[in-house]
Amino acid sequence: MSLKAVIYDLDGVITDTAKYHYDSWKWVGNQLEYTLTEKQNMKLKGVGRKESLDKILKWSGARISEAEKQSLLNRKNQMYLEYIDTMAPDEVFPGFKEFNKKAKSEGIKVAVGSSSRNAIRIIDKLDLVLAFHAIVDGGMTPNSKPEPDIFLLAAEKLQLKPEECLVVEDSQAGLTAAKKAGMKSILYGKDKGLKGAHMQIDNWLSADLDQFKNLY
Ligand code: BG6
Ligand code: MG
Repeated sequence: MSLKAVIYDLDGVITDTAKYHYDSWKWVGNQLEYTLTEKQNMKLKGVGRKESLDKILKWSGARISEAEKQSLLNRKNQMYLEYIDTMAPDEVFPGFKEFNKKAKSEGIKVAVGSSSRNAIRIIDKLDLVLAFHAIVDGGMTPNSKPEPDIFLLAAEKLQLKPEECLVVEDSQAGLTAAKKAGMKSILYGKDKGLKGAHMQIDNWLSADLDQFKNLY
């Protein structure tokens, strides 16, 4: 078998949006009279919006109504979108565009598989809409990561079998989703405590496409 496609996660793999999520979730924490730590924010990586609020509620011990939950989610997202709207193409991680271009020039399909319902807006701000053969976001599937739905839909859109697709992820939820989808995965970034990846790369500047291919 050979590598036919790379499916990239977006947040934390193509660009750094975690800092914007953190500021917005910290605001939510404050509304609950709770201080969200950076370590806790790391645990929200790859986790859907609603599921993230559920975790914060659990950590804080706060009890609120469904209507209050919905209101917090809306306001969190409004705040997050104000950050997103300031984003520009120079926020794409260095070396990503070159890597992606090389993969495509070798006939490898490329897609984004993100839990974020804002993925297309972010990709547009980064001027990358035309860089991929398929984009799947958190609004397109019933279940978010760590369930495999997002990656399976990306493979379907590319008309490929899951086992022909390689996922690049920065979160445990994403690595678990890839495994459940029957796809190999590469961990992006310097995190040491995550499980299930077949390889790790520090950044796109040091990524070697041949090493990706050698996993197949
Ligand atoms: C993931 C992020 O990509 O998307 C999570 O890593 C985020 O932190 C999730 O909660 C959902 O994002 P959004 O943009 O729909 O709130
Ligand atoms: Mg991510």
